[in-house]
Amino acid sequence: MEVIIKNDYDGVCTESAAIIQEACRHKSSPVLGFPTGKTPLGLYEKLIGFYNQGGIDFASITAFNLDEYVGLEASHPQSFAYYMDNHLFRYVNIKRENVFRLNGQPGNIEEHCRSYEKKIQEVGGIDVQILGIGKNGHIAFNEPGSSLSSRTRLKILTRETVEANKPFFLNEREVPRFCLTMGIGTIVEAKMVLLLAAGKDKAESVARAIEGPVTASIPASALQLHARAIFVIDEAAASGLTNRDYYRWAYESKDRALDPLKIIPTKLKK
Ligand code: GLP
Repeated sequence: MEVIIKNDYDGVCTESAAIIQEACRHKSSPVLGFPTGKTPLGLYEKLIGFYNQGGIDFASITAFNLDEYVGLEASHPQSFAYYMDNHLFRYVNIKRENVFRLNGQPGNIEEHCRSYEKKIQEVGGIDVQILGIGKNGHIAFNEPGSSLSSRTRLKILTRETVEANKPFFLNEREVPRFCLTMGIGTIVEAKMVLLLAAGKDKAESVARAIEGPVTASIPASALQLHARAIFVIDEAAASGLTNRDYYRWAYESKDRALDPLKIIPTKLKK
């Protein structure tokens, strides 16, 4: 696991965009997994900026949306399909046929979830899965208690999430209680997982995810078992970490570690 601490939210977004751009340079047809929420908004702006400057070509990119509310059409302003279109896809040259999304109104939920998993396999798996984190440590809509080996499936939203969503809907009966989400097992199969977090209200869940025990009570802690998980967080979100000085030190030393000769003490060099 790698923990990168940046001064502020803008630094988190710049660093994350650079990691994604670099990962895409090494693949002819990169496959990316995209989350919603407030946190990735700045990242998507940076990616659009890179695209406009010719730094990233979305024509070869395949996208999978991480989750979706059940009951909403893709055209509903609160759907995650709408969010991704309006915050990223419509501004870049991604091909519509390369955008895969969980359907909020599937005919057969189990069948739909199975075919989503199958589609991910068919394209060779996700290269970079981008994530945010909930205050309670959830990733995607895998709320605490979700099996660490769960697959894409229907989940019941927490009472808190349903309450928090009320202001976004005209009518209380319209507020979704259910969602479809990639499972934790699905997420950790991505070749690289990039989790972004910013702000003091994420400090506790970030600390428990990185330095606490691996537990279904903190779904993001499953990333400790991933060989290529990167947390890019700001100072406020890092404030609960015991080892934050080490993470900073390791990040600063990274360039030198790429050339091992540079880190051998002079006396040992012939
Ligand atoms: C929702 C989404 C997650 C997201 C989380 C945090 O639960 N399903 O994918 O990471 O919210 O959102 P925010 O970035 O707004 O704090």
